[in-house]
Amino acid sequence: MSEGIKVGDAVITLPDGTTASFPLLKGTEGPAVIDIRALYQKLGVFTLDPGFTSTSSCVSSITYIDGDQGELWYRGYRIQDLANSCSFLEVCYLLMYGELPTGEQLDHFESAVKSEMCIHEKLIEFYRSFQQGAHPMAIMVGVVGALSAFLDEKKNYDDPVEREKASIKLVAKFPMLAAIAYRTAYGLPVVYPKRKFSYIKNFLYMMFHDPMNEDFDVDPVIVEAMEKIFILHADHEQNASTSTVRIAGSSLANPFACIAAGIASLWGPMHGGANEAVLNMLDEVKKRGAVDEYLTRAKDKNDSVRLMGFGHRVYKNFDPRSVIMGEIAHRVLETLNSHELELFQLAIEMEKKALADEYFIKRKLYPNVDFYSGVVLEAIGIPRDMFTVIFALSRTIGWISQWSEMMADPVKKIGRPRQLYVGEKCRQIPHARDRLSRTISPALTQRTRNVWSPVKKSIHHHVHKLHVV
Ligand code: ACO
Repeated sequence: MSEGIKVGDAVITLPDGTTASFPLLKGTEGPAVIDIRALYQKLGVFTLDPGFTSTSSCVSSITYIDGDQGELWYRGYRIQDLANSCSFLEVCYLLMYGELPTGEQLDHFESAVKSEMCIHEKLIEFYRSFQQGAHPMAIMVGVVGALSAFLDEKKNYDDPVEREKASIKLVAKFPMLAAIAYRTAYGLPVVYPKRKFSYIKNFLYMMFHDPMNEDFDVDPVIVEAMEKIFILHADHEQNASTSTVRIAGSSLANPFACIAAGIASLWGPMHGGANEAVLNMLDEVKKRGAVDEYLTRAKDKNDSVRLMGFGHRVYKNFDPRSVIMGEIAHRVLETLNSHELELFQLAIEMEKKALADEYFIKRKLYPNVDFYSGVVLEAIGIPRDMFTVIFALSRTIGWISQWSEMMADPVKKIGRPRQLYVGEKCRQIPHARDRLSRTISPALTQRTRNVWSPVKKSIHHHVHKLHVV
């Protein structure tokens, strides 16, 4: 893969006058980058960029975002066009192979995916060890990591065929893994996929099929909405979870373990967990009838509340996915005549007020993809704790395509950032009696109490019993 075109040199001069030049590289689109790989070697300094706000971590040809223009492309195709014209499996093929499939290629791909949709029976047993009510994301982190024990067999992932096989297995098995996470959490029996159903319909079937019924029928509006939701979430450049997958993969860990790491990163409310958090926020606002109060809290720096589903590191104009998601929400809620319509209207009201508010305008905060996704998923009947699992299911193709792109690079570099150290200088260990006394942290004392109190209770109990006997 090309590393871009050199368009000049960027010169860096340190206060002591030492100077060095670094290549300025331009890709197909987007800002140029200063290639600082030789910075330490040439100048003996590092850069500091917590949160990677100005740092490109890799060279990639998969996804492009222009945050100021609200543009998102997969392999050069605009997200709006893909959502309107393609199936999710076509998009998976595009992300994996770089081009949209012909009819014949799609048939082959679909058949390869369907042949891999079932999971190992032993893995199903693994789900039984989770207690009922466990968060499905907790289950997913565990079972996807456990896939390594079933599927990895020490493959050579330098071989593109092995990478392709692993990618297909992950995309194929994820719907069943996700559906069983839901069914385990709710104590429902496992449902196996059917060859006659599409990828999306199979997922809905494995989630919602009632074994007492022969048939499974689902409104085509729901299938279409899910297809689009999956496409919108399929990839998103070097976000937190994708970067996690790449960093894990850079140590040459197996792809199943890397995807488990990505799932863990996605789980947080600042990232994929936002869709669940949006619905909880809307519920609270509805209960209290207090849109303005909530917005005031979201703007208050001393309050931990944020307007969930709003803001994005890259989009500073609008998130094109949120526009499509708003359209999907209209269509689904009107067709299903859902009672979530009320929550949707509340979300619209909050969006309008926030977009007219100086705080949000000044910081360029707009609704992101998750502002409306939760309302749609809830209307479809998907429980809230499954929202982020669905995000993970759709994002698996992006994660694995990015991992594969990284593995295809003949020069592999383990992800290993540096730091600005502000701790103690090197010092001698003092004798215990000479050590400085520090206040013991409340968390530590609480922990010690928690660990010891049941033990103490049980000792007292036994001593008491012995005494009585
Ligand atoms: N509500 C209120 N204030 C906000 C919000 C919000 N949702 N988002 C950002 N801000 C404010 C910050 O307080 C900060 O204000 P300041 O400059 O006065 O200190 C400013 O806007 C910049 O915010 P940062 O947190 O520095 O921006 P960053 O790019 O690091 O974070 C993020 C982006 C995490 C998405 C943030 O906007 C957020 O927490 N949003 C809510 C959670 C959410 O919806 N996450 C989903 C993201 S999309 C996805 O992962 C699919």
